[in-house]
Amino acid sequence: MKIDNFKNKIITGNCLNVLKKIPDESIAGCITDPPYNYEFIGKDWNQYEIERRMEKVNSKTSSTLVKNIPYGSGLSGGVRNKRWYEKNRKNILEYREWVKTWAKELYRILKPGAYVMVFNSTRTSAHIQVAFEDEGFYARDTIVWRRQSGIPKGLNAEKKLEKMGAKNPEIWRGWHSALRNEWEAITVIQKPLINSYINTLTLYGVGLLKTENEEINGFQSNIIENIKRDSKNNTNTHITIKPLQLIEKLISMSIPIHKNNIVIDPFLGSGTTAVAAKNLGLEWIGIEINPDYVKIAEERIRIMEQSI
Ligand SMILES: C[S@@+](CC[C@H](N)C(=O)[O-])C[C@H]1O[C@@H](n2cnc3c(N)ncnc32)[C@H](O)[C@@H]1O
Repeated sequence: MKIDNFKNKIITGNCLNVLKKIPDESIAGCITDPPYNYEFIGKDWNQYEIERRMEKVNSKTSSTLVKNIPYGSGLSGGVRNKRWYEKNRKNILEYREWVKTWAKELYRILKPGAYVMVFNSTRTSAHIQVAFEDEGFYARDTIVWRRQSGIPKGLNAEKKLEKMGAKNPEIWRGWHSALRNEWEAITVIQKPLINSYINTLTLYGVGLLKTENEEINGFQSNIIENIKRDSKNNTNTHITIKPLQLIEKLISMSIPIHKNNIVIDPFLGSGTTAVAAKNLGLEWIGIEINPDYVKIAEERIRIMEQSI
């Protein structure tokens, strides 16, 4: 199928199937935020479980959607026996194999030198790197997206011991099963160049990173912070929305802005990558498996078009 059939469209479906239809070397870059392998979401995004938990949060019987995740993060204080560790290991290896299936298709459709920026948790980003390298990519960097965070999640030893009626629980004050998580990983991966940066740039128009940062009047580092939160929008009920300003920054850093350059997001969610690309004047392709999220993304794009 011709690339024009995909441009500036959201395609509803499993990205594994949709990516296969996109022509070779037609895409200038990929910014994506795939499922992080959280326990209840898994790689298939368990819609029933998401809805069940959202209802609990809405009715205030629970304060969080994401209890005891991700697998093996040490967030929950439950049993840690041999079986648990084996299960956990099997799960992460399955996740890595799944990442390889879509990384393989991305490799085929990206131009030589093109970048892929993949969000993931601090614990699983290494698996993303390895999966992409197994499919021929070159791991270049990890960007730290530093964001506000409150208290450490997971087991609070003092509170747990108190509940259990233990003697002197206060001696474990301040001890938790996890650190306060203040950053998310964005794995930076590149499809190999053709001989050199300049040769690839001349042939395909991609391959470099824009390091000039006007906001700080200096060079862009691999730590991104002070990103504005998006204003609350009741029509967007997606549970893991990324800030628009952050996605715009990642696109601007890795893809030269001119028409003909297409950015793809195979896990589009509520459409942040599409809106960011449109704002910047780039072509885009979004793939999303959940029709409810496709509707949200289409609505966001419509509102944006109206405001131009
Ligand atoms: C972490 S969310 C992305 C959120 C997005 N960054 C935003 O700002 O709205 C991941 C999305 O991938 C979708 N998804 C999961 N598996 C998929 C698949 N195989 N193909 C396409 N989309 C998938 C989920 O429905 C979910 O909306």
